Amino acid sequence: MNSHVNDLTLKHIPGHDGLPIIGSTLDYLLKPRRALTDQLLQNYGDIYKVHAFGNRLVVFASPAANKFILTNKDQIFSNELGWKLHFGDLAQDTLLAMDGSEHSRHRSEMARTFSSDNRTHFNHIINQYLCEKTIPRDVGYFDFCNDIVVDLLYRIVFGGNPTDEIRQHTKDVINSAGAFIKKAIPGSKFWRGQRARNALSACLQESEFDKQFSIYNSLLTQSTLTKEEAFNQSLFLLIAGHHTTASAATFIMYYLTRHTHWMTQVSEEIHACPSDTPDNNQLQQLESLSLVFKETLRLYPPLRSIPRQATQAFEFGGFEFPAMTKLMLVPDDTCRLPSLWENADQFQPERFLTPLSDEQHWAYIPFGMGAHRCIGAYLGEFIAKLITFHVLRETIPSAQCAQEDVSLIPIPKPAQGLKLTLRRRTAP
Ligand code: HEM
Repeated sequence: MNSHVNDLTLKHIPGHDGLPIIGSTLDYLLKPRRALTDQLLQNYGDIYKVHAFGNRLVVFASPAANKFILTNKDQIFSNELGWKLHFGDLAQDTLLAMDGSEHSRHRSEMARTFSSDNRTHFNHIINQYLCEKTIPRDVGYFDFCNDIVVDLLYRIVFGGNPTDEIRQHTKDVINSAGAFIKKAIPGSKFWRGQRARNALSACLQESEFDKQFSIYNSLLTQSTLTKEEAFNQSLFLLIAGHHTTASAATFIMYYLTRHTHWMTQVSEEIHACPSDTPDNNQLQQLESLSLVFKETLRLYPPLRSIPRQATQAFEFGGFEFPAMTKLMLVPDDTCRLPSLWENADQFQPERFLTPLSDEQHWAYIPFGMGAHRCIGAYLGEFIAKLITFHVLRETIPSAQCAQEDVSLIPIPKPAQGLKLTLRRRTAP
């Protein structure tokens, strides 16, 4: 089988090849993302080829394509090959980069560690940590959330309090996922990540785990995974869950500080909550917060694109695609298709009061769908909402800059990190 699809085999697909060698890379780096997407959709429709960042791939930007590819009925769309393009070997031997029966076996073992019993442990760990957390007055909110999420995920996944050394290793591993070049060139981000991974593995061998609860311990004691498999899967939870959750938590506050009506509504709801340490049921009852969470992920899904590679030829949308076609689903685009979402670029959480149509359901995929749907979706939502809960319970946030652009690479976030003043509430 040919391992590459070239410009000739994709000749019949709409789109253009751009400049020799670099293709349209400059467009992706320099043009505003939304303008570029709108232009591509308008010129070529919702299936088009792209040649950028050294790859030739086909973008599928419709709910029907999301359904077809993520349902993966014939098992021809590979996660392993797709994600290799983004993460190199970083995701190797983890759920995200596994296919077929190997994925099913690991996924069912991992799913047990996210059971409802264990969720009670998660709740306890997260609430306790946030109750003790000192909230500074002036913050770069993305970094503030980032640090919280590293600490929380470490506690949940490996147990106990991370030492400063472990915290630094954890951050280096996580940051290596955002490295542009996924090769361990000495001194590079990716190289530091690999060294940190080995160091973290050594620290964990030596340390006495908190035996009360951790995902890693559950996998070691209650699953058929080997120690190495359990370690790889656990470590990847930190990588997969960290920036995604921090991005979601940050955009919640980004929108609340810009939409005072929603800020008032969410704050009032949070203050009316009978508990300082709500469990998931109590959080779910905070309706405005749930609407805001959903709308935030619609506008800025932290994972903007989902890659796959076809292992066999297939047909879709009136086109034939050769085996080994690299493809990209784009939640970032389908979540804003004007044909599906009224005032698609506007923050209107109330739209989620009405059940989604079937098309909207398949367009709205911030956590993916199908066999690889985010295994940490519950946890990501819970952490992002609880950070908001504790911050709003204790402070009145206001934005320090009236305007703040959004940067999208490696993860969507306000370009200056969302500078906020968190004024402490006076006691009632
Ligand atoms: C708001 C936060 C989060 C968002 C938006 C998000 C998004 C996603 C998406 C879109 C996928 C599907 C990828 C694909 O189909 O190829 C995914 C998979 C995954 N996520 Fe998340 N994620 C979040 C939080 C988390 C957390 C907190 C964890 C871990 C504790 C986590 C662990 C994973 C793992 C392990 C997978 C791979 C699942 C599989 O392939 O079976 N994620 N995530």
